[in-house]
Amino acid sequence: MKLRHITSINDLTLDEIETIFSLTDRYLAEFGDPEISYRIGRSTDACAGSLMATLFYEPSTRTRLSFESAMLRMGGKAISSADPATSSAAKGESLADAVRVVSNYADVLVIRHPRDGAVKLAAQYANVPIVNGGDGAHEHPTQTLCDLYTLRRENKTLKNLNVAVSGDLKGSRTIHSFVYALARFGANILMMPAKGMALPSNVDWRLRHEFHCAAVPKTAVKDASIDAVYVTAHEPHQLSLYAPDEDLASKLTKNIDVLYMTRFQKERWVEAARDYPRVDAKFLRAGRFRKTSVLHPLPRVGELDVSFDQDSRAAYFRQAAYGVPIRMALITLLLNIDRQFSLQQFDRGFLPADRHVYEQPRESGFLCANPNCISHDPLDVQNAAPKFHLIAAKPPRLRCFYCEYDMENFVAGHKRTKAYERPHEINLERPARDLVFFPDEQVAEAHGYGRGAPRPAKAVAH
Ligand code: NCD
Repeated sequence: MKLRHITSINDLTLDEIETIFSLTDRYLAEFGDPEISYRIGRSTDACAGSLMATLFYEPSTRTRLSFESAMLRMGGKAISSADPATSSAAKGESLADAVRVVSNYADVLVIRHPRDGAVKLAAQYANVPIVNGGDGAHEHPTQTLCDLYTLRRENKTLKNLNVAVSGDLKGSRTIHSFVYALARFGANILMMPAKGMALPSNVDWRLRHEFHCAAVPKTAVKDASIDAVYVTAHEPHQLSLYAPDEDLASKLTKNIDVLYMTRFQKERWVEAARDYPRVDAKFLRAGRFRKTSVLHPLPRVGELDVSFDQDSRAAYFRQAAYGVPIRMALITLLLNIDRQFSLQQFDRGFLPADRHVYEQPRESGFLCANPNCISHDPLDVQNAAPKFHLIAAKPPRLRCFYCEYDMENFVAGHKRTKAYERPHEINLERPARDLVFFPDEQVAEAHGYGRGAPRPAKAVAH
């Protein structure tokens, strides 16, 4: 049986996401009226005999409790380490060791951690399925499942939907998983960032280069609150060089189907937020919000006013409630206990599974450029060997295996010949497997690598 981990929303194909939703529908239907039943909490015994562990190194209310509620409602059991101060992390235990230990105590593990890419590292050391409950500013895939499922229950079809995302687009992991999924399902995304909090450049790159989004920049949008409109191409002829025009962009901004609000992620910023957007009943009276479903992953801390709570467009408490049946479905699928619904029927994941992983010696000096990457965590440096995927050659691009942060400046050496080449010379169709990366030519030469021609064996450093 293949072990499945959910570290990113992109670990799931669209068909797999639909399967999760079908099973969620079934759980809700079994409970009777969903609006009432997920509040009164009937249960099934689908997971009787199974045990889930939640390992949370960061605060949480919804994610941890809804996972545990989901497991308990299915007749399973849950054990939890919710406070790093009372776990062995306080004694300096690495995440890798904790996972090696706890994956023998439970059948499925849910992890939340302040470092980007931590759950990917954890998955390397686990012998049970691992689920990402939020890793730093990287991703929060199960929140996205709740978000998408809420839209489905609000009768919003994702294809061509105009979704505005607002607030801290840089620091919010919920936003990153959400925009990937929106693009993959064919929605258009309207970026409404707080000042200085636009989408990180690597998320923007992936939307445009991997998920077929074309961005209309701020200068063309003519709406002060909107930074850019990302139009998702659908037709094959649109997939390359697709340039949506300004008219289309301004048409999209006039009719917003969904507004997804997020709080300022103060724990991921050094300085305080200034001019953070704030949404209330009055703001949402504008014509373009007439039929808008308003979502928020919660917690809210002032950016979404309670004056709007009674409005039928306010979907955020329904969204939080769906967290339980969605996670019931996900747990059932990961534990592979339902004959009709199974993730095993699909090929693994969405991104190319055979993308080569280049493991790097730390001494090469080429490390992930994201300072919050788990590969820099002092407790885990020995466990998180620097690893990269070669994503593109023109322009050159390496992606951190853990936190998926991209890097553009490097030279590549061949371990076999000790010759280095500039990245644009790499044949991406058939890249060599023996590449080692260096920050620049000087460092490559200091390691005994030479431009083009191989060096004599005695100069070899590795
Ligand atoms: C989010 C999180 O932890 O990333 N909360 C959640 O899981 N619903 C959002 C947030 O903290 O702002």
